Amino acid sequence: MRIIRAKDYDDMSRKAANIIAAQVQLKPDCVLGLATGSTPIGTYKNLVAAYEAGDLDFSEVKSYNLDEYRGLPGDHDQSYRYFMNVNLFDHVNIDKANTHVPDGLMEDYEAACAEYDAAVAAAGHQDLQLLGIGNNGHIGFNEPCDSFIVGTHCVDLTESTIQANSRLFDSIDDVPRQAYTMGIGTIMGAKMILVIANGDAKAQAVHDMCFGPVVPSCPASILQLHPNVVVVADEAALALCPAE
Ligand code: GLP
Repeated sequence: MRIIRAKDYDDMSRKAANIIAAQVQLKPDCVLGLATGSTPIGTYKNLVAAYEAGDLDFSEVKSYNLDEYRGLPGDHDQSYRYFMNVNLFDHVNIDKANTHVPDGLMEDYEAACAEYDAAVAAAGHQDLQLLGIGNNGHIGFNEPCDSFIVGTHCVDLTESTIQANSRLFDSIDDVPRQAYTMGIGTIMGAKMILVIANGDAKAQAVHDMCFGPVVPSCPASILQLHPNVVVVADEAALALCPAE
C-alpha cells in the first residue's frame, strides 16, 4: 500500500483526480470502478474541470459503480445512480450506456448480482477502482461481518452506516436498510485501487485498513493483500497512522 498524504479535503481531491485523470489519458478506453459518498465529490469536481479544460476525454470510458440502495429507483435523489449523474456523468462526455450502477429495483437479485460480476469480468475488470471508506471500515457496502463475501450481493446495512448516511435523508426512517454492493472479490479484481479518506471520523478505519490485521470485521483491511493500492488521505484521516 502506498500512502499519499494530503493537507486537506481539497488537496486530497486534487491528488486523487490527478491519478484518475492519468488513467484515462493513458488508456482512453479504460474501465473505472466508481464510488459515491461525500468523499469523492471533490474528486469528481476536479475531473469535470479537467474535462472542461480539454484535458480529458471520457468518450470510450466504461464505468461500474460499487453499490446502490435496495429499493431506490435511479431517479431518486438519494440513489447512487442519481448521485453519479449529478456529480460526474452529466458533466463529461461519457456515454451513459457505458455507465453501470447496480439497479436498486432488481427483482431476481441473486441472478442480477451474478450478471453484474460477469459484466465487470467481461469488460476486463476495473483498471482503476476508486473507494471511499466507511467509519466502520466498510468498502462499497461490505459491512463488518464474519467472512469476506466474494461477489456482488445484497447486504443488511449496520446501524452505524444507517446513522452515518441518515444525514443525507429527510429522516433516519427514510434510509434504506439494505443495499447491493460489489463483493470483496469484485473489488479486489481491479488492477489498481485508489482509496480516498478525509476527516478524523475516518482515522481509526484508515489505521485498521493499512496497519490492522486482515479481518472481515474491518473489510477494508483486505486491501493489504492487493498488489497495487494507493491511499490518498488528509492529515486528520491519517492521524492514527505512523508518520512514515
Ligand atoms: C457509503 C458508501 C461507501 C462510502 C462510504 C463513506 O455508505 N456505500 O461507498 O465510501 O459510505 O461515505 P462518505 O464518503 O460519505 O464518508
